[in-house]
Amino acid sequence: MHGKRILLGITGGIAAYKIAFLVRILKKKGAEVKCIMTPASSDFISPLVLATLSENPVGIEFWDKKTGVWTNHVEYGLWADLFVVAPLTANSIAKMATGSCDNLLLASYFSMKCPTLIAPAMDLDMYAHPSTKRNLEQLQKDGVGIIPAESGELASGLVGEGRMAEPETIASAIENFFANHTTSITQSLIGKKVLVTAGPTYEAIDPVRFIGNHSSGKMGFAIVEELLAQGAQVELVCGPTKLSLNHPNLKFTSIKTAEEMLHSVQGKWAKMDVGIFSAAVADYRPKHSAIQKIKKTEDDLTIELVKNPDILAWAGSNKTEQQLLVGFALETNDVFVNAKSKLERKNLDLIIMNTLEDRGAGFAGDTNKISILDNHNKFTSFELKSKSEVAKDIVEYLINYRK
Ligand code: C5P
Repeated sequence: MHGKRILLGITGGIAAYKIAFLVRILKKKGAEVKCIMTPASSDFISPLVLATLSENPVGIEFWDKKTGVWTNHVEYGLWADLFVVAPLTANSIAKMATGSCDNLLLASYFSMKCPTLIAPAMDLDMYAHPSTKRNLEQLQKDGVGIIPAESGELASGLVGEGRMAEPETIASAIENFFANHTTSITQSLIGKKVLVTAGPTYEAIDPVRFIGNHSSGKMGFAIVEELLAQGAQVELVCGPTKLSLNHPNLKFTSIKTAEEMLHSVQGKWAKMDVGIFSAAVADYRPKHSAIQKIKKTEDDLTIELVKNPDILAWAGSNKTEQQLLVGFALETNDVFVNAKSKLERKNLDLIIMNTLEDRGAGFAGDTNKISILDNHNKFTSFELKSKSEVAKDIVEYLINYRK
């Protein structure tokens, strides 16, 4: 975000004290930062702190009563590449949603030429109130990006949803916005952590030979790209592949074997909101992997295979109420029956079916034809499409899916 101009709007909630940390993070990443505050927010954090950290004057009033100097909200609108309002109170949400502009921050919002991103923060009952929900929906319709409030301890002493997203989460949503060069910011997965497995696994027979499969990782990578475009923070655990992807919100772990994939997934799953397991994991591995290359002899060679762990089934049996788990089923016969039993056996929310019987569907190609079966027994079939279009269908389904 080097050189990017970020206008930070602060409204009057206790989480305002955390904005000092956000300003530091953004400045360290090379952004130019200006702050504007509602008068009420200066009870929660001193404008001097924000002016010092941002190295810019802070705007609060339309004009200075002593000098008569006018602060031009239109200029803020022209200056910023992104407007971020954090924390955003129920009061200011209502005003933004209905067009009220009785302070500098609100007048600036209505003058913005750039997209706006908001991080609501309030007590749990206020956050859950139909009025707040309605106003947030209106803002989303207006094209505002929402960094959802998190669950946790609230200033009132209650515990629930309403805590402002942490400064690091807000910073990564901002980084993601600039990385995607988005002009509209309706990203539905901001603040969500998604674990994706992709590619094949290679199970060593000896130092030069392995049991593997034709998986290219293309489907998994396409899903990762779509998740990132929707603002998610993604952990990709991937077997050997020619593909690569760099993104500030992507952490990439490269593994070779199913056991390595399992260990990596076990270390990450508890922190995730969603898991999408698209890897083509080898079901079996050689019982013994020879340390030296196995020499050719006159005799036949028998390799004893042992079962690999089922990584998806492990995640399913360690899934919380809040987590969503998506598996894939590549079947050659009785596709529906097998997929349904897999959905139940592995405790999944969605299963994506593809079959090698469909022309164009499969491993290394650029197209795929899928059907989705969900936990409510809803079955949806899609046309043959490019893998990136298929990824959009999958991610959209997930966004709209309610447990
Ligand atoms: O049981 P089956 O291998 O057909 O299930 C396929 C699904 O399970 C895919 O989502 C795949 O990524 C996942 N899987 C796994 N670990 C295995 C085998 C499959 O995570 N050992």
